[in-house]
Amino acid sequence: MTKGKFITLEGVEGVGKSTNLELISALVKSGGHDVLVTREPGGTTLGERVREILLDKDEHGMTPMAELLLMFAARAQHVEEVIRPALARGTWVVSDRFTDSSYAYQGGGRQLGSNTVAELEHQVLGGFKPDLVVILDLDVQAGLERASKVSEADRFESEERAFFERVRAAFIGRSTKAGYQLVDAGRPLADVQADITIIIKKLFE
Ligand code: TMP
Repeated sequence: MTKGKFITLEGVEGVGKSTNLELISALVKSGGHDVLVTREPGGTTLGERVREILLDKDEHGMTPMAELLLMFAARAQHVEEVIRPALARGTWVVSDRFTDSSYAYQGGGRQLGSNTVAELEHQVLGGFKPDLVVILDLDVQAGLERASKVSEADRFESEERAFFERVRAAFIGRSTKAGYQLVDAGRPLADVQADITIIIKKLFE
């Protein structure tokens, strides 16, 4: 059976995910594959509704565990309704964030720890994982400045810098695993995109 590949793009706020998501999608298409671009939290009607709650600044009392469970509620729906069926059709799926964001933001940022996230990952996803995780890495301050120019701060973007330093450290910590690529996004866009192009083209081999 033909099976698509599952690529996720990760990183702290303002790291340049949108531009590079477009590049990855174009590269996958140029490799002759159908591509579906999606995002988390979101990607389904339910997931987009959960996203609204998660990003709503009025939800300032949300506990870290409630936040984590909502992320996984949206993810459970996303995987069953969208991601797995697309992969089974042979479509490649590119997701703006996935489980690694839960390890970074809830495990690291909110300090729930990676074991708690791993237990939920096991429960909700079994062994289902991306074929490739591209983590864009950037100085936290530079990223937050970039993000603040694009839109008004949501519930996460309103966090203090120390939170994002923990998020960044958790991403870097995960980047040594098999199937992970850490890309220095602090360089000129052409250099970042040259690296991403090489990484994606390896998947065609
Ligand atoms: P975005 O604005 O990059 O699309 O992501 C929305 C926010 O959700 C971002 O601040 C990161 C956060 N997030 C988590 O905290 N945990 C997760 O598992 C995911 C997918 C996103």
